[in-house]
Amino acid sequence: MSERYRKSETLLERARRTIPLGSQTFSKSLTQYPLGVSPYFIQRGKGSRVWDMDGNAYVDFVNGLCAVTLGYGDPDVTRAVEAQLKDGVIFSLPHPLEMQVAEAIVGMVPCAEMVRFGKNGSDATAGAVRLARAYTRRDHVAVCGYHGWQDWYIGATARNRGVPKAVRDLTHVFAYDDLDALRDVLTAHPGEMAAVVLEPMNAQAPKDGYLAAVKELAHRHGALLVFDEVITGFRYANGGAQEYFDVVPDLACFGKGLANGYPISALAGRAEVMKLMEEIFFSFTFGGEALSLAASLATLDKLKREPVVATMRRRGERLMRGVEGLLRRHGLDGMLTVSGHPAWSFLNFRDAGGYSLYEIKTLFLQEIFARGYLTLGTHNISHAHSDADVDGLLAAYDEIFPLLKGAVEGRKLAQLLRCKPIEPLFKLR
Ligand SMILES: Cc1ncc(COP(=O)(O)O)c(C=O)c1O
Repeated sequence: MSERYRKSETLLERARRTIPLGSQTFSKSLTQYPLGVSPYFIQRGKGSRVWDMDGNAYVDFVNGLCAVTLGYGDPDVTRAVEAQLKDGVIFSLPHPLEMQVAEAIVGMVPCAEMVRFGKNGSDATAGAVRLARAYTRRDHVAVCGYHGWQDWYIGATARNRGVPKAVRDLTHVFAYDDLDALRDVLTAHPGEMAAVVLEPMNAQAPKDGYLAAVKELAHRHGALLVFDEVITGFRYANGGAQEYFDVVPDLACFGKGLANGYPISALAGRAEVMKLMEEIFFSFTFGGEALSLAASLATLDKLKREPVVATMRRRGERLMRGVEGLLRRHGLDGMLTVSGHPAWSFLNFRDAGGYSLYEIKTLFLQEIFARGYLTLGTHNISHAHSDADVDGLLAAYDEIFPLLKGAVEGRKLAQLLRCKPIEPLFKLR
């Protein structure tokens, strides 16, 4: 047992007796946090910081997997939730907050004329696919990126146990930023594709005109265009990636970032398509849960009132510029690059010197957690991050990058690792 994470590891052992993996989310589990060099439980968070069960403090660049955009315990959101809590959480009829949040989204997101709510991003993406199938009267979907845990999508990945083949056969993966790849999928299933579903961007920026061409191609083949903006929404711009890139899809899915970490997601889109939600089945007990709606309204208000997104972008730019400088200075070109949007950027690890990217990443995680920074190799910026938080992370990288390089070039990575390397869940992005 490690000294620094003693309580976390003890709790993990206990949790694993009643909870498979000891976590509700793969990305918060020991599949991503190598055992022996990682915390497993967080006690509380404030602003840009969290504290684990052993009392270690971290500047958090994971931020609840991108859900926390304003910062932990944002006072405006907390006030709104406290006020709503006095009135109640769910009722036997809708609360007017439902339409207030729908109206706020319609006012901010270009494609949004009507809105329905869910809880997780997967609710929104599964709803979008069912709606597109109902609207087009077709069954197949083309996908690119990650879209959640439901059969329709996860069946197309390597982690598809439990998904019937009949469902798997309806989902077709295409490569990002490669129009020919999409064209091939569409022409292989003429008249069958209900939707083209993609993250408008994740680690890689699209070539000029790519997203507009995807829209044109989808429509030419009679499919709806669905942007999965579960992460890019309310992060790239107040109107999401569709505003940032000026390409308006038929439908868009939102989740993380909609309510600063409260559980709510949304499917939004053209009224003519969304109206069909009245005919399909998309309905659940907690769909109109009022605390998350109150949190969402307060979050969206703050986005409109204050330069939240612009500030996050500036902080992220400072970080990306800093990382690029460090990679150059320490000569890590072959092993590590940085890419993405400033508000959600990625360290891209590569195999090097006979070591797999997972071995190199594990050493990175061991060293970054030990220095009081939480990141899984992405920089999920929140409005609460300060320039000092960013500079602190860069100072930690300034120590870790030469260590990684020395470990690889000196063939001593295994010696430096105090844990087993992580293994890929399945390649997402
Ligand atoms: C782009 C994207 N879509 C959909 C989802 C699924 O959201 P959830 O995990 O809330 O169901 C995620 C989650 O990571 C995501 O990143």
